Amino acid sequence: MNKRKIPVASPFIGKKEAEAVYEVVKSGWISMGKKVQEFEERFSEYVDSRYAIAVNNGTAALHLALIANGIKEDDEVLVPDITFISTANAVLYERAKPVVVECNPKTYNILLDDAEKRITNKTKAIIPVDMNGMPADYDEILQFADKHNLSVIADSAESLGALYKGQKTGAIAPLHIFSFFPNKNITTGEGGMITTDDEKLAEKIRKLRNQGQDYRYNHVMLGYNYRMNDVLAVIGIEQLKKIDNIIIEKEKIAKKYNDEFENDTLVSPPFLPSYVDQHSWYMYAVSLHEDIDRDLVVIKLKEKGIDTRLSFPPIHLQPYYQEKFGYNDSTYPISLKAWKQLINIPIWVGLSNEDQNYVINSLREIIEKDKS
Ligand SMILES: Cc1ncc(COP(=O)(O)O)c(C=O)c1O
Repeated sequence: MNKRKIPVASPFIGKKEAEAVYEVVKSGWISMGKKVQEFEERFSEYVDSRYAIAVNNGTAALHLALIANGIKEDDEVLVPDITFISTANAVLYERAKPVVVECNPKTYNILLDDAEKRITNKTKAIIPVDMNGMPADYDEILQFADKHNLSVIADSAESLGALYKGQKTGAIAPLHIFSFFPNKNITTGEGGMITTDDEKLAEKIRKLRNQGQDYRYNHVMLGYNYRMNDVLAVIGIEQLKKIDNIIIEKEKIAKKYNDEFENDTLVSPPFLPSYVDQHSWYMYAVSLHEDIDRDLVVIKLKEKGIDTRLSFPPIHLQPYYQEKFGYNDSTYPISLKAWKQLINIPIWVGLSNEDQNYVINSLREIIEKDKS
């Protein structure tokens, strides 16, 4: 019986966060207050944006970003096929239409050639996603958005710490959103952030997250309770102090995988375009040779105590979307083919060299058997 248990991701969280929570509980102020403000200030300093607005999760951040950009009923918003469901769902919350776009089969980010074909006079925005933590090609996206007069809402939920042409995700597009779900590079359990340099957008989002009020009990727009609280904010503050270290440690693990799989004919490491100076390594996604049965590999790895994740199933495969928009399993062949070969293998701070070797050797052993 195999005793090993290697998770695919694990938060780097401990005593400092626990102590900070104890202190804030003792203070008697546990709803949104000074600590949320401090977290926002530290976060905007880290990503180099003028403003940061903390919210209760990344999905809420997307929702508010869409409202703040004026997205309304019947507008169309371009979203990549391979992403977490909330990228598309947030568009539906406003009764607008998510227009699903194929993904680049190498980067898994939105494929602009395909997006171009889907532009109509109703298209109002595009949501590029930094899939698996690798920044989208923002220069191209911003040019595309300019040409078609679109708002850009960057879904950087997974890319905290990544660098695009030397710049951190968070201040490249007019607005970025982040998530602090526990598998992300930093976590607050649940939590999210919106960053922007645009003062008007920031002000509007601040009101929207707090019941649409400009001052207490004066509600000037339809708002929500999407607030973060001080208990979570102090966890975020402690986590943010560790982010540089988290990136360094994950980079070491990724580099070892990259070196191992670089010349492998059955497993390909993630493709790194020249515009990416730093991957966030939210996930380490390998692409298996098309003759390999990915689902079987997942099962076999599990039997060996190794946890993996499939990348998020494409939006067009989701039953709700198939029913609503009439997609079927072959509507988006490019992203489907790319997604079918992808699996995320363990990467987290604290993954030992020995366990990483075990992952590499087990994967090799399983796929070589599968191929023979
Ligand atoms: C690409 C992407 N977008 C949006 C989200 C939503 O974030 P949350 O789970 O914090 O609502 C996530 C995270 O789960 C994500 O990975």
